[in-house]
Amino acid sequence: MHTPSASAASDPRSSSSAWLTSWWKSAAIYQLYVRSFADGDGDGIGDLAGARAHLPYLAALGIDAIWFNPWYPSPMADAGYDISDYRSIDPVFGTLADADALIAEAYAHGIKIIIDVVPNHSSDRHPWFVAALAAGPGSAERSRFWFRPGRGVSGELPPNNWQSIFGGSAWTRVTEPDGSPGEWYLHLFAPEQPDFNWDSADVRLDFEDVLRFWFSRGVDGIRIDSAALLCKDAALPDVSGLEPPGPAHPYMDRDDVHEIYQSWRAVADEYPGRMLIGEVWLPDTGRLARYVGPGELHTVFNFPYLNCPWDAASLRQVIDSTLALDAPATWVLSNHDVDRVVSRYGRSDTAFDLDRRPYFHGFPVDLALGTRRARAAALLTMALPGAVYIYQGEELGLWEVQDIPDELRQDPIWARTHGADPGRDGSRVPLPWSGTEPPFGFSPAGAESDPWLPQPKEWRDLTVATESANPDSMLRLYRAALRIRRSEPAFDETPLTWQPSADGVLAFDRHGASGVTDGATVRCVANLSAAPIPLPPNAEVLLASGPVYGGVLPPDTSVWLRIG
Ligand code: NOJ
Repeated sequence: MHTPSASAASDPRSSSSAWLTSWWKSAAIYQLYVRSFADGDGDGIGDLAGARAHLPYLAALGIDAIWFNPWYPSPMADAGYDISDYRSIDPVFGTLADADALIAEAYAHGIKIIIDVVPNHSSDRHPWFVAALAAGPGSAERSRFWFRPGRGVSGELPPNNWQSIFGGSAWTRVTEPDGSPGEWYLHLFAPEQPDFNWDSADVRLDFEDVLRFWFSRGVDGIRIDSAALLCKDAALPDVSGLEPPGPAHPYMDRDDVHEIYQSWRAVADEYPGRMLIGEVWLPDTGRLARYVGPGELHTVFNFPYLNCPWDAASLRQVIDSTLALDAPATWVLSNHDVDRVVSRYGRSDTAFDLDRRPYFHGFPVDLALGTRRARAAALLTMALPGAVYIYQGEELGLWEVQDIPDELRQDPIWARTHGADPGRDGSRVPLPWSGTEPPFGFSPAGAESDPWLPQPKEWRDLTVATESANPDSMLRLYRAALRIRRSEPAFDETPLTWQPSADGVLAFDRHGASGVTDGATVRCVANLSAAPIPLPPNAEVLLASGPVYGGVLPPDTSVWLRIG
C-alpha cells in the first residue's frame, strides 16, 4: 500500500524481515499526545496537521514508531479517552483522510504508527449508550453496559460500593425515558465513560471489527487502554479493598480477560508485523506475565520501571525481574498520566505511584538535579535490551508544570477529587518549538486561541529550536543516543551481561549478535552514587550524559563505552 522513501529504505532495519515482523521488540517509540504536540490550525489544540508537519523532526530524532493517544470523535471529558466513534477522527484533530495521509507520510519516513484503543468504556455520547438510555431497563441495548437498579428503599443508593478511579462513586443514576429516577450505570472512570459489558457478544464483535478497520488502514500497532479492567464479576459484589487484582477481585485482572486478548491476537495475526501492547498496571509480575506470549499480547508497558526510585539496587531489581519475564521488555520513563521524569528525579523522594500524586504536589523540585538524573536515566534506559517508549517533551527535558491556575485545569481528576489530586495536566502542557514566548511555535503565528494549557515562560530555554543549537541539550543527547542505539550492533536484540560495580552503580555490557567481546561490545555505566567512580582504562567514550574528565564518572551521570 505504501512505498518507503529512499532514506527509510536505506536503513537496513526497514528492509530486514526480522525487523518487519518483530520491530516492536527493540523499537524506539515516541508517544505523541496529539492535543499538545503541534497545532496546525491555530485553535490552541494540537492536531494531525501539526503532527504531519513535524514528522521530519521525529525522523531526525531517530524514532521507529509513534504511539498516538486517542484521536477519535470525543466530547473530551477525559481528553479523548471517552470515545463516541471508534472509526473516525475528532474534527478538532482533523479527518480520516488526514489520518490516512499521516500514516502514509510516516511510513515514507520509515516510522510505524501505533494507535490507542479504549475497550473498557466508551463515551456517554456513543450511539450505543444513547440507545441504551432510550431503550430502558431490561433492554438488549442496556446489556452492552452495566445497568442495575439501585439499593435502598427506592433505588436511591448505588448498586455497590465501587469507587471511580477518578474519585467518587463508580455509579451514576439515570433518568428513565418516562422522566422517573431510574437505574444506575457503572463507570470505573468519569461518569461520561460508561463501562462496556464484555459478556456481550455485540461488544466483542464490534471491537474485533475496530481492530480490522485500523489494521486495514495501515496502522502497525494497538495500545490497549486500561487492559486489565474489562471483565467484571456479573454479581457485582462490594469490594473490601483487600482483594488483590486477580480472580478474587470483581473487576481487576480477572481471568476471563485473557479470552478477549487471545481473540484480538488472532485478529492481529491476520496482518503480518502488527502488534498489541497492553496498558496493564499490576504489582504481581506473575499475573502480568499472563498477558504476554505467542497467543496473547505482544508486549506490555513496564510501569515498575517508571515507578522505580532513582536508586541503583531498586533499578537493578526491576531490570532483572523485567528480563526474567518470558516476553520482550519495554522501558518507560514517563507518559501522559504521570509526573514528568525531570520533576520526579528532582525531588527528595524519587519513587512514583499514581496514588501518591497528591502527596507529591507542591513538593520542592531541584530542576538541575532532576535534569542531570533524567539525562543519566535516558542513557541507562536506551542501553537496555528491549523497546523504549519516549513521551513527547521527555527529549526536551520538560518538567511537570505544577502551578497551572486552578480555573485552567482540565483533567477530570482535579474536579472529581475536589482539588485533592492535581491530576495530570502538568505533564500535558503543549510543547515549545521555537521563539521566546508562548505559544513557542506550538500554534501558528496569528493563532486565534492560546494553547489549551498555559506554557511556562521558562520554556523559552527548552524549545526545539534552542536545544537543536545547543550541543549540551537534552534534545541533542536523545538524538545522539537514538542514532547510536540504532547503528551499533551491540544494541541488536541481545541480552545484557551485568559487570561488577560499586554500590550505587549499574554497569552492564551489550555484546552484539556474536555474543563475544570483539570490539563491538558497548558497556553502559550509570553512577547513581554520591561519589565519582573510576572508568575502565582505554575505553572509548561513545556518549556521556554529562561532562566526563580524567577517567572518572561523576554522580548522577551515565556513559556508553566501547570496550576493546
Ligand atoms: C488510561 C489512560 O492512559 C488515561 O489517560 C485515561 O484517563 C484512563 N485510561 C481512562 O481511559
